[in-house]
Parts: sequence; C-alpha cells; structure tokens
Amino acid sequence: MDFVPFDDRDGWIWLDGSFVPWRDAKIHVLTHGLHYGSCVFEGERAYGGRVFETEWHARRLMRSAELLGMTPTFGVDDIVAAKAEAMARNGFEDCYVRAFLWRGSEMMGVSAQQSRIRACVAAWQWGSYFQDKMAGIRLTHAKWRRPSPETIPSEAKAAGLYMICTLSKHAAEDAGYADALMLDYRGHVAECTGANVFFVRGREIHTPVADCFLNGITRQTVIRLARERGYEVIERTIMPEELGGFQEMFITGSAAEVTPVKELGDIMYQPGRACEELMHAYADLVRGKISA
Ligand SMILES: Cc1ncc(COP(=O)(O)O)c(C=O)c1O
Repeated sequence: MDFVPFDDRDGWIWLDGSFVPWRDAKIHVLTHGLHYGSCVFEGERAYGGRVFETEWHARRLMRSAELLGMTPTFGVDDIVAAKAEAMARNGFEDCYVRAFLWRGSEMMGVSAQQSRIRACVAAWQWGSYFQDKMAGIRLTHAKWRRPSPETIPSEAKAAGLYMICTLSKHAAEDAGYADALMLDYRGHVAECTGANVFFVRGREIHTPVADCFLNGITRQTVIRLARERGYEVIERTIMPEELGGFQEMFITGSAAEVTPVKELGDIMYQPGRACEELMHAYADLVRGKISA
C-alpha cells in the first residue's frame, strides 16, 4: 500500500466540540449520514498557517446544512475556531482542512427528524492536487450529468452529490485521464468532478453560469482576480460543441487551486498567459502576498 489510511494516523481531530486523538474519531456503522448521504462538508486549504477564506467556507457549510434541513449545534465562529486549533494542534501550516456535519445514529429510517447533527473538523497535509501544473492536465468527458436543482439542492456542498463525481472521476482515471468534464441535465457544460471550469479566448474568459452546480469560492475569487487584471469574464451558457474554439482552459477549486488543462477529449489547449497569470495571482492572494 503506497498510502497511509486516514484512520491510522497520529494527531488530533475536533469531534462534536472537543479534540480527540486521531484514531478515536470514530462513528458507528449505523449512522444516517453514511446510509442516506445526509452529510455536508467543506474542503479548504491553509497557507502559511491561515485557512484561505475560512469564514466564507464556514458560512457555506452552514448554508449547506440549512438546505438539507439540518440544524447544527455549532455555528460559524465555532467551526472557524476549530479549524484554526486543528491546524495548530497538529502542527500544520500548509494543509487541507475538512469541516463536516452529518446526521448521527439516533434514527435509521429515511426520516430522521430527531437525529443529532454531528460535527467534525480534521486537517491533514496534502500537496498539489495535480503535479506540474503548467504542463496542464488531461480531461475526458463524463457520462454522468449534474442534476437539475429541482432534483437535488445543487447549491449545497452535500455528500450525496458526490456519488456522480466519484463515478465520473474513477471512469476518467481508469481511461488514463486526470479528471472529467461534466455536462448538466440540459447538456450544457457544467464543471469537473471537484472543480469549476473556465475557457479563454484572447482577453475573454468564459465560464458556465453556476445555476446547478457549486459556485466555488475559488471560482468567484478567480473571476474577481481576472477582472482586476483586465480580462472580460463572461458567465453564460456554454455548449460542448463550442469548446474547440478556445485557446486555453483551466479549472479552479480549493483543492485544485488554478490548474491549466492541455487536453479535453480530442481538443488540445495550450496553457498560456491567462492560465499562468491567474495561477500566480491566486497563489499570491492565498499566501497574503497581494490583498483581497
Ligand atoms: C463539485 C465541485 N465543484 C466545484 C468546486 C470548487 O469549489 P471551491 O472553489 O469552493 O472549492 C468543488 C470543490 O469543492 C467541487 O467539489
């Protein structure tokens, strides 16, 4: 095995209000969140001891919980403090941070109105999601589509929504690609399995309207950074047939940061000036080298 399982590590995890040794942060097999996907989460990165946009992530976590009808006993401030302490206790400066809420074990039917809402924050060291970024990653097309907001609360960062992401990502990896581009239920270009997508033509940057997928914090940050650098950012419906008409493509996410794409199926892109400029601008921002 060339990886260390996540349940067999040293350190501390914040669980329901207090820190427990890493290996003791356990739940029972009969947990609603496990069986029915009643779990919401955040994926964040810390740079130099500071979680990027920690309050924004905590607010989104609470909003996701609300969308799933969950009322957590902890609030934004508790989660923000827990994240900072999880990093400090584990001695991490640059790391990935995962905050999540889920329905516990009190009830095991589809209905679980009286279940307790559990809360956890864990942090671990995690390098670049993709290696040698400027070389660009290879993407394929996913067969699974992002569902309609009338099918599922697609604005929520909810565990249930990730079933199609894992299916799509595994299929892409099995075929030798890094990730997959997903269309939405209407056949419009949507996003990757854990990141938003952008397409560049000259000084224009086109990105799909986030009306049925996560409007990423990185997406919104990069749109601002691009506009500040004189790019025209156009949020619009993008059809798959148009994708050959762009010069550059990149994806954004807390884990992926800004990652250029060199191939999408049979389309070739040339990671260039826009990718490089925004990759560096984002890196400078998260490290506090430029102001927000
Ligand atoms: C499906 C999906 N879309 C988009 C994103 C990007 O969101 P953010 O930039 O807030 O990390 C993520 C990452 O969390 C994701 O999992």
